[in-house]
Amino acid sequence: MKIGVPKEIKNNENRVGMTPAGVFELTKRHHEVFVQQNAGLGSGFFDDDYKEVGATIMNTIEDVYDSAELIVKVKEPIEAEYALIKPQHVVFTYFHFASSETLTKAMLQSNAVCIAYETVEDKEGTLPLLTPMSEVAGRMAIQQGAKYLEKPIKGRGVLLGGVPGVPPGKVLVLGAGVVGIQAAKMAAGLGAHVTIMDINMKQLRYVNDVMPSHVVTEFSSEYNIRKRIKDHDLIIGGVLVKGAKAPKLITQDMLKEMRPGTVLVDVAVDQGGCIETTKATTHEAPTFIIDDVVHYCVANMPGAVPYTSTLALTNVTLPYVIRLANQGWELACKTDGMLAKGLNIVKGKIVYEEIAEAFSWSVSAM
Ligand SMILES: NC(=O)c1ccc[n+]([C@@H]2O[C@H](COP(=O)([O-])OP(=O)(O)OC[C@H]3O[C@@H](n4cnc5c(N)ncnc54)[C@H](O)[C@@H]3O)[C@@H](O)[C@H]2O)c1
Repeated sequence: MKIGVPKEIKNNENRVGMTPAGVFELTKRHHEVFVQQNAGLGSGFFDDDYKEVGATIMNTIEDVYDSAELIVKVKEPIEAEYALIKPQHVVFTYFHFASSETLTKAMLQSNAVCIAYETVEDKEGTLPLLTPMSEVAGRMAIQQGAKYLEKPIKGRGVLLGGVPGVPPGKVLVLGAGVVGIQAAKMAAGLGAHVTIMDINMKQLRYVNDVMPSHVVTEFSSEYNIRKRIKDHDLIIGGVLVKGAKAPKLITQDMLKEMRPGTVLVDVAVDQGGCIETTKATTHEAPTFIIDDVVHYCVANMPGAVPYTSTLALTNVTLPYVIRLANQGWELACKTDGMLAKGLNIVKGKIVYEEIAEAFSWSVSAM
Protein backbone atom coordinates (compact mmCIF):
# COMPACT_ATOMS: atom_id res chain seq x y z
CA MET A 1 0.00 0.00 0.00
CA LYS A 2 1.05 3.63 -0.47
CA ILE A 3 1.22 5.39 2.91
CA GLY A 4 1.58 9.15 3.41
CA VAL A 5 2.98 10.96 6.45
CA PRO A 6 2.30 14.71 6.17
CA LYS A 7 3.88 17.36 8.38
CA GLU A 8 1.45 18.60 11.05
CA ILE A 9 0.48 22.21 10.43
CA LYS A 10 -1.71 22.89 13.45
CA ASN A 11 -0.32 25.70 15.63
CA ASN A 12 2.50 24.48 17.91
CA GLU A 13 2.10 20.83 16.91
CA ASN A 14 5.50 19.18 16.67
CA ARG A 15 4.50 15.54 16.80
CA VAL A 16 4.57 13.37 13.67
CA GLY A 17 2.38 10.37 12.75
CA MET A 18 5.23 7.94 12.07
CA THR A 19 8.83 7.51 13.20
CA PRO A 20 11.65 6.03 11.08
CA ALA A 21 11.12 2.79 13.06
CA GLY A 22 7.53 2.69 11.77
CA VAL A 23 8.64 3.30 8.20
CA PHE A 24 11.16 0.46 8.60
CA GLU A 25 8.36 -1.95 9.60
CA LEU A 26 6.26 -0.92 6.60
CA THR A 27 8.94 -0.96 3.91
CA LYS A 28 10.06 -4.34 5.25
CA ARG A 29 6.55 -5.53 4.35
CA HIS A 30 6.91 -4.05 0.83
CA HIS A 31 4.71 -0.99 1.39
CA GLU A 32 5.69 2.42 0.00
CA VAL A 33 5.95 5.32 2.45
CA PHE A 34 5.88 9.01 1.43
CA VAL A 35 7.05 11.42 4.13
CA GLN A 36 6.77 15.18 3.77
CA GLN A 37 10.03 17.10 4.00
CA ASN A 38 10.85 18.01 7.63
CA ALA A 39 7.75 16.20 8.93
CA GLY A 40 9.71 14.62 11.79
CA LEU A 41 11.98 17.55 12.60
CA GLY A 42 9.96 18.80 15.59
CA SER A 43 10.19 15.32 17.13
CA GLY A 44 13.90 14.91 16.46
CA PHE A 45 13.74 12.82 13.25
CA PHE A 46 15.56 14.02 10.13
CA ASP A 47 14.63 13.37 6.49
CA ASP A 48 17.78 11.26 6.16
CA ASP A 49 16.59 9.00 9.02
CA TYR A 50 13.42 8.30 7.04
CA LYS A 51 15.29 7.92 3.72
CA GLU A 52 17.64 5.39 5.26
CA VAL A 53 14.73 3.03 5.95
CA GLY A 54 13.21 3.37 2.49
CA ALA A 55 10.84 6.36 2.68
CA THR A 56 10.45 8.77 -0.22
CA ILE A 57 10.71 12.38 0.92
CA MET A 58 8.11 14.65 -0.73
CA ASN A 59 8.54 18.41 -1.09
CA THR A 60 4.98 19.47 -0.37
CA ILE A 61 1.95 18.33 1.57
CA GLU A 62 0.04 18.14 -1.75
CA ASP A 63 2.61 15.64 -3.05
CA VAL A 64 2.08 13.43 0.00
CA TYR A 65 -1.71 13.36 -0.32
CA ASP A 66 -1.58 12.88 -4.11
CA SER A 67 0.77 9.88 -3.76
CA ALA A 68 -0.83 8.04 -0.85
CA GLU A 69 -3.91 5.94 -0.09
CA LEU A 70 -3.46 5.66 3.69
CA ILE A 71 -2.68 8.93 5.49
CA VAL A 72 -1.19 8.64 9.00
CA LYS A 73 -1.33 11.84 11.06
CA VAL A 74 -1.52 13.07 14.65
CA LYS A 75 -4.04 15.92 14.87
CA GLU A 76 -7.39 16.39 13.20
CA PRO A 77 -7.16 18.06 9.77
CA ILE A 78 -7.44 21.83 9.95
CA GLU A 79 -9.22 23.89 7.29
CA ALA A 80 -6.15 24.23 5.05
CA GLU A 81 -6.01 20.42 4.84
CA TYR A 82 -9.68 19.73 4.05
CA ALA A 83 -9.29 20.01 0.25
CA LEU A 84 -6.32 17.62 0.25
CA ILE A 85 -8.46 14.71 1.47
CA LYS A 86 -10.04 12.83 -1.42
CA PRO A 87 -12.27 9.75 -1.89
CA GLN A 88 -9.23 7.44 -2.34
CA HIS A 89 -7.93 8.24 1.15
CA VAL A 90 -8.15 6.38 4.43
CA VAL A 91 -7.16 8.88 7.13
CA PHE A 92 -5.94 7.51 10.48
CA THR A 93 -5.51 10.24 13.11
CA TYR A 94 -7.13 11.94 16.14
CA PHE A 95 -10.35 13.56 14.85
CA HIS A 96 -12.54 14.45 17.89
CA PHE A 97 -15.45 14.92 15.46
CA ALA A 98 -18.08 15.58 18.13
CA SER A 99 -16.36 18.86 18.99
CA SER A 100 -16.40 20.24 15.39
CA GLU A 101 -19.34 20.27 13.04
CA THR A 102 -17.24 22.03 10.38
CA LEU A 103 -14.63 19.27 10.37
CA THR A 104 -17.34 16.59 10.34
CA LYS A 105 -19.07 18.16 7.33
CA ALA A 106 -15.75 18.57 5.50
CA MET A 107 -14.82 14.92 6.03
CA LEU A 108 -18.29 13.77 4.95
CA GLN A 109 -17.85 15.79 1.77
CA SER A 110 -14.40 14.34 1.13
CA ASN A 111 -15.89 10.83 0.72
CA ALA A 112 -12.79 9.46 2.46
CA VAL A 113 -12.67 6.83 5.21
CA CYS A 114 -11.89 8.41 8.60
CA ILE A 115 -10.59 6.17 11.40
CA ALA A 116 -10.21 8.05 14.69
CA TYR A 117 -7.48 7.14 17.18
CA GLU A 118 -9.64 8.27 20.08
CA THR A 119 -12.46 5.77 19.49
CA VAL A 120 -10.37 2.63 18.94
CA GLU A 121 -11.45 0.61 21.96
CA ASP A 122 -10.26 -2.63 23.55
CA LYS A 123 -12.37 -5.40 25.09
CA GLU A 124 -12.24 -3.80 28.55
CA GLY A 125 -13.67 -0.57 27.14
CA THR A 126 -10.41 1.38 27.50
CA LEU A 127 -9.02 3.56 24.72
CA PRO A 128 -5.52 2.30 23.93
CA LEU A 129 -4.63 5.11 21.52
CA LEU A 130 -5.56 7.79 24.08
CA THR A 131 -3.81 6.23 27.07
CA PRO A 132 -0.23 7.26 26.18
CA MET A 133 -1.23 10.90 25.79
CA SER A 134 -2.96 10.81 29.19
CA GLU A 135 0.23 9.32 30.63
CA VAL A 136 2.23 12.21 29.17
CA ALA A 137 -0.28 14.83 30.36
CA GLY A 138 -0.52 13.36 33.87
CA ARG A 139 3.23 13.44 34.36
CA MET A 140 3.52 16.89 32.77
CA ALA A 141 0.81 18.26 35.05
CA ILE A 142 3.16 18.00 38.04
CA GLN A 143 6.13 19.42 36.11
CA GLN A 144 4.04 22.44 35.07
CA GLY A 145 2.34 22.76 38.45
CA ALA A 146 5.69 22.76 40.26
CA LYS A 147 6.92 25.53 37.95
CA TYR A 148 3.84 27.74 38.41
CA LEU A 149 4.08 27.37 42.20
CA GLU A 150 7.19 29.55 41.99
CA LYS A 151 6.72 33.08 43.31
CA PRO A 152 8.00 35.04 40.25
CA ILE A 153 5.16 33.52 38.22
CA LYS A 154 2.58 34.29 40.91
CA GLY A 155 2.59 30.91 42.64
CA ARG A 156 2.67 30.37 46.43
CA GLY A 157 6.45 30.02 46.42
CA VAL A 158 6.41 26.42 47.61
CA LEU A 159 8.99 23.77 46.66
CA LEU A 160 6.96 20.57 46.25
CA GLY A 161 9.55 18.30 47.82
CA GLY A 162 10.27 20.59 50.78
CA VAL A 163 13.77 20.37 52.34
CA PRO A 164 15.06 18.85 55.58
CA GLY A 165 13.31 20.71 58.37
CA VAL A 166 10.56 22.07 56.07
CA PRO A 167 7.50 19.96 55.20
CA PRO A 168 6.81 19.16 51.52
CA GLY A 169 4.09 20.79 49.44
CA LYS A 170 0.63 19.23 49.21
CA VAL A 171 -0.87 17.99 45.95
CA LEU A 172 -4.55 17.11 45.48
CA VAL A 173 -5.32 14.92 42.45
CA LEU A 174 -8.94 14.64 41.30
CA GLY A 175 -9.47 11.38 39.40
CA ALA A 176 -7.44 8.20 39.86
CA GLY A 177 -7.46 7.17 36.19
CA VAL A 178 -4.50 7.33 33.80
CA VAL A 179 -3.84 11.07 34.25
CA GLY A 180 -4.38 10.97 38.00
CA ILE A 181 -2.16 7.98 38.71
CA GLN A 182 0.69 9.35 36.60
CA ALA A 183 0.38 12.74 38.30
CA ALA A 184 0.32 11.16 41.77
CA LYS A 185 3.36 9.08 40.92
CA MET A 186 5.36 12.12 39.76
CA ALA A 187 4.34 14.22 42.75
CA ALA A 188 5.19 11.39 45.12
CA GLY A 189 8.55 11.01 43.40
CA LEU A 190 9.31 14.65 44.14
CA GLY A 191 8.52 14.01 47.80
CA ALA A 192 5.23 15.91 47.91
CA HIS A 193 2.34 14.85 50.12
CA VAL A 194 -0.39 13.59 47.76
CA THR A 195 -4.13 13.12 48.21
CA ILE A 196 -5.86 11.36 45.31
CA MET A 197 -9.64 11.23 44.98
CA ASP A 198 -12.02 9.17 42.86
CA ILE A 199 -15.56 7.82 43.00
CA ASN A 200 -14.39 4.46 41.70
CA MET A 201 -13.35 2.34 44.71
CA LYS A 202 -11.56 -0.16 42.48
CA GLN A 203 -9.20 2.60 41.33
CA LEU A 204 -8.67 3.85 44.88
CA ARG A 205 -7.89 0.31 46.09
CA TYR A 206 -5.36 -0.08 43.28
CA VAL A 207 -3.67 3.25 44.11
CA ASN A 208 -3.62 2.34 47.79
CA ASP A 209 -1.92 -0.98 46.96
CA VAL A 210 0.80 0.34 44.65
CA MET A 211 1.68 3.84 45.88
CA PRO A 212 3.98 4.79 48.75
CA SER A 213 2.44 5.81 52.09
CA HIS A 214 2.71 9.56 51.41
CA VAL A 215 0.02 9.07 48.70
CA VAL A 216 -3.34 9.01 50.49
CA THR A 217 -6.62 7.98 48.84
CA GLU A 218 -9.91 9.65 49.67
CA PHE A 219 -13.40 9.21 48.23
CA SER A 220 -14.34 12.10 45.95
CA SER A 221 -17.22 14.19 47.28
CA GLU A 222 -17.95 17.91 47.45
CA TYR A 223 -17.49 17.80 51.23
CA ASN A 224 -14.03 16.20 51.00
CA ILE A 225 -12.91 18.45 48.14
CA ARG A 226 -13.98 21.60 50.05
CA LYS A 227 -11.98 20.40 53.05
CA ARG A 228 -8.79 19.63 51.11
CA ILE A 229 -8.54 22.67 48.82
CA LYS A 230 -7.90 24.94 51.83
CA ASP A 231 -4.39 23.64 52.48
CA HIS A 232 -3.28 22.02 49.22
CA ASP A 233 -0.78 23.91 47.06
CA LEU A 234 -1.32 22.21 43.71
CA ILE A 235 -4.61 20.73 42.46
CA ILE A 236 -4.74 18.49 39.37
CA GLY A 237 -8.03 17.91 37.51
CA GLY A 238 -7.90 14.48 35.85
CA VAL A 239 -11.52 13.27 35.90
CA LEU A 240 -13.39 11.77 32.98
CA VAL A 241 -16.96 10.63 32.57
CA LYS A 242 -16.93 8.85 29.19
CA GLY A 243 -18.93 10.57 26.49
CA ALA A 244 -19.94 13.46 28.77
CA LYS A 245 -18.64 16.85 29.80
CA ALA A 246 -16.39 16.74 32.86
CA PRO A 247 -18.26 17.32 36.15
CA LYS A 248 -17.44 20.69 37.78
CA LEU A 249 -15.80 19.50 40.97
CA ILE A 250 -14.27 22.88 41.81
CA THR A 251 -16.74 25.73 41.61
CA GLN A 252 -15.89 29.43 41.42
CA ASP A 253 -16.83 30.11 45.06
CA MET A 254 -14.23 27.53 46.17
CA LEU A 255 -11.38 29.68 44.80
CA LYS A 256 -11.89 32.08 47.73
CA GLU A 257 -11.28 29.16 50.12
CA MET A 258 -7.84 28.50 48.60
CA ARG A 259 -4.66 30.26 49.63
CA PRO A 260 -3.31 32.92 47.22
CA GLY A 261 -0.89 31.36 44.75
CA THR A 262 -2.52 27.93 44.78
CA VAL A 263 -2.08 26.36 41.33
CA LEU A 264 -4.82 24.49 39.45
CA VAL A 265 -3.87 22.31 36.47
CA ASP A 266 -7.09 21.26 34.71
CA VAL A 267 -5.97 18.42 32.43
CA ALA A 268 -9.63 17.59 31.75
CA VAL A 269 -9.95 20.91 29.87
CA ASP A 270 -10.52 19.03 26.58
CA GLN A 271 -13.78 17.70 28.04
CA GLY A 272 -14.82 21.16 29.25
CA GLY A 273 -12.70 21.00 32.43
CA CYS A 274 -13.56 19.92 35.98
CA ILE A 275 -13.02 23.43 37.35
CA GLU A 276 -15.81 25.95 36.78
CA THR A 277 -13.41 28.79 35.95
CA THR A 278 -11.43 26.77 33.37
CA LYS A 279 -10.94 28.25 29.89
CA ALA A 280 -8.70 26.49 27.36
CA THR A 281 -5.25 28.07 27.11
CA THR A 282 -2.27 27.53 24.79
CA HIS A 283 1.42 26.78 25.24
CA GLU A 284 2.16 30.44 24.35
CA ALA A 285 -0.08 31.73 27.16
CA PRO A 286 -0.70 28.72 29.40
CA THR A 287 -2.03 30.39 32.56
CA PHE A 288 -4.46 32.99 33.88
CA ILE A 289 -5.30 34.09 37.39
CA ILE A 290 -8.71 34.39 39.06
CA ASP A 291 -9.03 35.33 42.75
CA ASP A 292 -5.22 34.94 43.14
CA VAL A 293 -5.44 31.30 42.03
CA VAL A 294 -3.25 30.32 39.06
CA HIS A 295 -5.08 28.28 36.37
CA TYR A 296 -3.12 26.17 33.83
CA CYS A 297 -5.54 24.77 31.21
CA VAL A 298 -3.59 23.80 28.09
CA ALA A 299 -5.69 21.53 25.88
CA ASN A 300 -2.80 19.81 24.04
CA MET A 301 -0.22 19.34 26.78
CA PRO A 302 1.64 16.46 25.00
CA GLY A 303 2.38 18.80 22.06
CA ALA A 304 5.01 20.53 24.22
CA VAL A 305 7.08 17.35 24.61
CA PRO A 306 7.05 15.96 21.06
CA TYR A 307 10.16 13.80 21.48
CA THR A 308 8.40 11.74 24.13
CA SER A 309 4.85 12.06 22.80
CA THR A 310 5.59 10.98 19.22
CA LEU A 311 7.29 7.81 20.43
CA ALA A 312 4.55 7.10 22.98
CA LEU A 313 1.82 7.58 20.37
CA THR A 314 3.44 5.71 17.50
CA ASN A 315 4.30 2.76 19.76
CA VAL A 316 0.56 2.10 20.01
CA THR A 317 -0.64 3.22 16.56
CA LEU A 318 1.91 1.28 14.49
CA PRO A 319 0.36 -2.20 14.89
CA TYR A 320 -2.92 -0.78 13.51
CA VAL A 321 -1.13 1.02 10.67
CA ILE A 322 0.54 -2.26 9.70
CA ARG A 323 -2.83 -4.05 9.74
CA LEU A 324 -4.46 -1.34 7.61
CA ALA A 325 -1.57 -1.45 5.15
CA ASN A 326 -1.47 -5.25 4.91
CA GLN A 327 -5.20 -5.91 4.68
CA GLY A 328 -6.83 -2.66 3.53
CA TRP A 329 -9.34 -0.88 5.80
CA GLU A 330 -12.35 -3.13 5.09
CA LEU A 331 -10.72 -6.46 5.92
CA ALA A 332 -8.67 -4.97 8.76
CA CYS A 333 -11.82 -3.60 10.43
CA LYS A 334 -13.77 -6.80 9.77
CA THR A 335 -11.12 -8.95 11.44
CA ASP A 336 -10.24 -6.54 14.28
CA GLY A 337 -13.18 -5.35 16.36
CA MET A 338 -10.98 -2.89 18.28
CA LEU A 339 -9.92 -1.12 15.09
CA ALA A 340 -13.49 -1.22 13.74
CA LYS A 341 -14.53 0.95 16.72
CA GLY A 342 -12.30 3.63 15.23
CA LEU A 343 -14.41 3.93 12.08
CA ASN A 344 -16.17 7.29 12.34
CA ILE A 345 -16.93 8.29 8.75
CA VAL A 346 -17.02 5.99 5.73
CA LYS A 347 -17.33 7.52 2.28
CA GLY A 348 -19.81 10.27 3.10
CA LYS A 349 -21.62 8.49 5.95
CA ILE A 350 -21.28 8.79 9.71
CA VAL A 351 -20.96 5.32 11.20
CA TYR A 352 -20.28 6.27 14.83
CA GLU A 353 -23.46 6.97 16.75
CA GLU A 354 -22.11 9.52 19.25
CA ILE A 355 -20.96 11.86 16.46
CA ALA A 356 -24.39 11.95 14.86
CA GLU A 357 -25.91 12.43 18.33
CA ALA A 358 -23.61 15.36 19.01
CA PHE A 359 -25.17 17.22 16.07
CA SER A 360 -28.64 15.59 16.33
CA TRP A 361 -28.16 13.91 12.95
CA SER A 362 -29.16 10.33 12.11
CA VAL A 363 -26.56 7.56 11.74
CA SER A 364 -26.35 5.90 8.34
CA ALA A 365 -26.19 2.12 8.39
CA MET A 366 -22.99 0.70 6.92
N1 LIG B 1 -5.07 18.52 28.37
C1 LIG B 1 -4.48 17.54 27.72
O1 LIG B 1 -3.53 17.75 26.97
C2 LIG B 1 -4.95 16.14 27.92
C3 LIG B 1 -4.13 15.05 27.50
C4 LIG B 1 -4.58 13.75 27.76
C5 LIG B 1 -5.82 13.55 28.40
N2 LIG B 1 -6.58 14.64 28.75
C6 LIG B 1 -7.87 14.50 29.45
O2 LIG B 1 -7.69 14.14 30.82
C7 LIG B 1 -8.91 13.60 31.31
C8 LIG B 1 -8.64 12.33 32.11
O3 LIG B 1 -8.18 11.31 31.22
P1 LIG B 1 -7.82 9.84 31.74
O4 LIG B 1 -7.20 9.14 30.59
O5 LIG B 1 -7.08 9.90 33.02
O6 LIG B 1 -9.26 9.24 32.02
P2 LIG B 1 -9.59 7.91 32.87
O7 LIG B 1 -10.90 7.43 32.40
O8 LIG B 1 -8.43 6.98 32.87
O9 LIG B 1 -9.73 8.46 34.37
C9 LIG B 1 -10.74 9.33 34.78
C10 LIG B 1 -11.06 9.05 36.23
O10 LIG B 1 -11.98 10.06 36.67
C11 LIG B 1 -12.78 9.44 37.65
N3 LIG B 1 -13.93 10.25 38.00
C12 LIG B 1 -15.11 10.39 37.36
N4 LIG B 1 -15.93 11.21 38.06
C13 LIG B 1 -15.24 11.60 39.16
C14 LIG B 1 -15.53 12.43 40.27
N5 LIG B 1 -16.71 13.03 40.40
N6 LIG B 1 -14.57 12.61 41.21
C15 LIG B 1 -13.37 12.03 41.11
N7 LIG B 1 -13.05 11.19 40.09
C16 LIG B 1 -13.97 11.00 39.13
C17 LIG B 1 -13.12 8.10 37.00
O11 LIG B 1 -13.64 7.17 37.95
C18 LIG B 1 -11.76 7.70 36.45
O12 LIG B 1 -11.02 6.88 37.36
C19 LIG B 1 -9.77 13.37 30.07
O13 LIG B 1 -10.69 14.43 29.93
C20 LIG B 1 -8.77 13.40 28.93
O14 LIG B 1 -9.37 13.75 27.70
C21 LIG B 1 -6.16 15.90 28.51
